Amino acid sequence: MELDLSSMASVRRFAADFAAKGLPLNILVNNAGVMATPFSLSEDGIEMQFATNHVGHFLLTHLLLETMKKTARESNVEGRIVNVSSAAHKFTYQEGIRFDKINDETEYGSIGAYGQSKLANILHANELARRFKEEGVNITANSLHPGGIITNLLRHHSIIDGKYTSQIFNAPDFLKERLDSCFLL
Ligand SMILES: NC(=O)c1ccc[n+]([C@@H]2O[C@H](COP(=O)([O-])OP(=O)(O)OC[C@H]3O[C@@H](n4cnc5c(N)ncnc54)[C@H](OP(=O)(O)O)[C@@H]3O)[C@@H](O)[C@H]2O)c1
Repeated sequence: MELDLSSMASVRRFAADFAAKGLPLNILVNNAGVMATPFSLSEDGIEMQFATNHVGHFLLTHLLLETMKKTARESNVEGRIVNVSSAAHKFTYQEGIRFDKINDETEYGSIGAYGQSKLANILHANELARRFKEEGVNITANSLHPGGIITNLLRHHSIIDGKYTSQIFNAPDFLKERLDSCFLL
């Protein structure tokens, strides 16, 4: 089934099509993501990394939640929601999530924006878990860092495409540590 997480209309269409199938839903892994993209806005006018990595998954989860709750109730099998976050949540902007500047190009940093979206994945899972506990819902919500793996995710990353390689080797140790950890993104 087609799904573009950067588009709220696409997420809504997907959720409606899924609901129409009348299938149960026990596991939701919010894995898709983009990283360190040049600044752009989604069709909804939201910064692209925040739109894809967080808002899309947030809306999708919200729209699938009643089906997940029903499945957990009727099957008596614990449901699971897993948000694939990243250790890079630590490289979010200094303020954490810039709620009032998410779509502001003038202060955009591609790594900061990625970190911000990954921090949002964690907070989303934490809040879902809190609500499930409070409401006695038989679903768990967790987030994770999958480890550092060379995948297509790094296609926008200039360290990997070689632009900054020489600077890394000549960089002072504290900076090397920070750059090294970029490979964990
Ligand atoms: N690789 C790492 O070292 C690493 C480290 C920490 C965290 N992570 C996290 O792990 C997750 C998976 O990353 P990966 O390394 O497997 O990256 P990847 O190989 O680039 O895979 C990302 C997947 O997300 C999909 N995707 C991107 N934009 C989408 C959109 N708008 N709508 C629907 N699907 C979309 C891509 O689909 P298409 O192929 O169709 O574009 C692709 O299947 C991400 O959340 C990432 O932040 C990865």
